[in-house]
Amino acid sequence: MKIIILIFGFSVVFCEEIHYGFVTKYIDMPLDHFSFTTNTTFKLRYLVNDTYFAEDKPIFFYTGNEGDISMFAQNTGFMFELAAKMGALLVFAEHRFYGETLPFGNNSYTSPKYLGYLSAQQALADYVYLINDLQKQYVNKSNSLEKLPVIAFGGSYGGMLAAWLRIRYPYSVIGAIASSAPVWQFHGIIPCENFNKIVTDVVRSLGSEICADTIRKSWNILRNITATDKGKIDVSTTFQLCKNIQTNDDIETLLNWLSEIYVDIVMVNYPYPTSFLVPLPGHPVREFCEGLDSVKYKDGVGLVEAIAKGLQIYTNYTGTTKCNDILQTAGPNLGENGWNFQSCTDMIMPMCSTDTDMFENSAWDFQQFSDDCYKQFSVRPRNEEVPILEFGGTEIETASNIVFSNGLLDPWSSGGVIKNISSQVLSILIPDGAHHVDLRAANPLDTESFKTARQFHEKQINKWLDKFYFKSLPLEAYVSTVNKI
Ligand SMILES: *[C@@H]1O[C@H](CO)[C@@H](O)[C@H](O)[C@H]1NC(C)=O
Ligand SMILES: *[C@@H]1O[C@H](CO)[C@@H](O)[C@H](O)[C@H]1NC(C)=O
Ligand SMILES: *[C@@H]1O[C@H](CO)[C@@H](O)[C@H](O)[C@H]1NC(C)=O
Ligand SMILES: *[C@@H]1O[C@H](CO)[C@@H](O)[C@H](O)[C@H]1NC(C)=O
Ligand SMILES: *[C@@H]1O[C@H](CO)[C@@H](O)[C@H](O)[C@H]1NC(C)=O
Ligand SMILES: *[C@@H]1O[C@H](CO)[C@@H](O)[C@H](O)[C@H]1NC(C)=O
Ligand SMILES: *[C@@H]1O[C@H](CO)[C@@H](O)[C@H](O)[C@H]1NC(C)=O
Repeated sequence: MKIIILIFGFSVVFCEEIHYGFVTKYIDMPLDHFSFTTNTTFKLRYLVNDTYFAEDKPIFFYTGNEGDISMFAQNTGFMFELAAKMGALLVFAEHRFYGETLPFGNNSYTSPKYLGYLSAQQALADYVYLINDLQKQYVNKSNSLEKLPVIAFGGSYGGMLAAWLRIRYPYSVIGAIASSAPVWQFHGIIPCENFNKIVTDVVRSLGSEICADTIRKSWNILRNITATDKGKIDVSTTFQLCKNIQTNDDIETLLNWLSEIYVDIVMVNYPYPTSFLVPLPGHPVREFCEGLDSVKYKDGVGLVEAIAKGLQIYTNYTGTTKCNDILQTAGPNLGENGWNFQSCTDMIMPMCSTDTDMFENSAWDFQQFSDDCYKQFSVRPRNEEVPILEFGGTEIETASNIVFSNGLLDPWSSGGVIKNISSQVLSILIPDGAHHVDLRAANPLDTESFKTARQFHEKQINKWLDKFYFKSLPLEAYVSTVNKI
């Protein structure tokens, strides 16, 4: 069985000229929010931009996910644009154990005794703690407000955190914009094959049938060719690998590397050029398949050449890549290790492949998964239900003030909230959108559905704020306002 540990993609997508500015700050954060037997703290990094901030206006708080927070700050232009319009304070908080926020410095990843403090629950508590501090820092007590209203924003795993922050800690945030947040990608909620089915459907419809069929055929052929030493060298040469594959483990690594790239290309299939850790043209799925289709003879070695040709769009768009390192798909800034640990503990997301998709068949086998986790981290997932017990699964109708948005070209929409739950937990669909496209800055190539989603967010946020300010009126004003209604 093949274990697919997928990382979330996020787009380092900004026209090279745009570079959002901010001030870097740190807060002393309790290492363990759920125990009173230790006082150990660490420095949690957060970024602040107060250029647009006006008195009594809201805080827009990005709940950082699995990577360096400055990357998220550079890639969430929508928050900057909306802050300029609404006078908001911008804050981007770094998730513990990612980027520079390493509670045990360089030792953070060396032992389960340290890594044990990496969890979504601890991260949410960090954000609550930081928000409380920010509200004290930025509120003007001479005015009527006791505290500033806070809106949580997040994309991907960060979107899950934004939603859960509102669900679990409604005192902290008055609402949440959760973009491409697969809060239902958990045990027993959706079939494990849905994710890879979406990837395949997108390749078929926006790339080509031949493209998807070729990839489907490639797994057996690659295994067959790499069965011999000469074949291993040939394949390594065709893919221009930095280091020739030699062992069976290397073959698995190569196949995983290919799978992850196919997923990544689909996830960031934006209509304009971007840099998702690697620079890419607009419509990368189409470009990838055109490259692949341009090789006419697609069998045996010819098929490997076709795939290598297609891959160039992802691995070598700038034409400056010397060779390909199959241990790296997403670049150095993505905390892949940290995420692998989380997916072995509190973020267990069952994934599998069947005959209905272009990937090599693989079943979801929890016991096998657990064994692999133990091998890698000396830690096992307690059981598959952990994320549901901790965050509620589909039972979220008691929540309020959350917008879940999902691009339907995004494989993570498989685990997204794609229907309205109530009049206050809303879902907005972006039929032609990839991974959290709505959090990106406006672009001339934006489609109508991107714009509609952003307008929807703005309207909901204004509604939440109206209610907040109304409730915050001093008693007399409140009574007179109520009487007027
Ligand atoms: C906040 O972001 C805006 C937009 O990029 C920028 O003009 C401004 O200089 C930034 N402010 C700070 C304090 O960096
Ligand atoms: C934590 O800090 C408080 C206040 O400084 C102190 O009274 C207490 O003894 C400390 N607890 C531990 C376990 O160190
Ligand atoms: C951690 O590792 C980095 C990179 O290897 C190094 O530059 C830095 O000095 C190390 N920090 C500590 C506290 O050892
Ligand atoms: C706080 O509000 C008071 C009353 O509106 C105002 O006079 C004062 O300048 C404000 N303080 C700051 C630091 O903005
Ligand atoms: C593998 O390659 C050998 C030699 O070309 C061929 O006989 C065999 O049918 C191939 N097997 C598969 C599964 O493609
Ligand atoms: C990247 O593209 C350049 C220019 O086309 C080419 O010379 C080089 O071999 C390519 N490198 C890889 C690893 O594909
Ligand atoms: C949810 O309701 C809103 C209107 O409040 C609507 O615009 C949106 O399309 C609905 N979402 C879905 C998935 O039906």
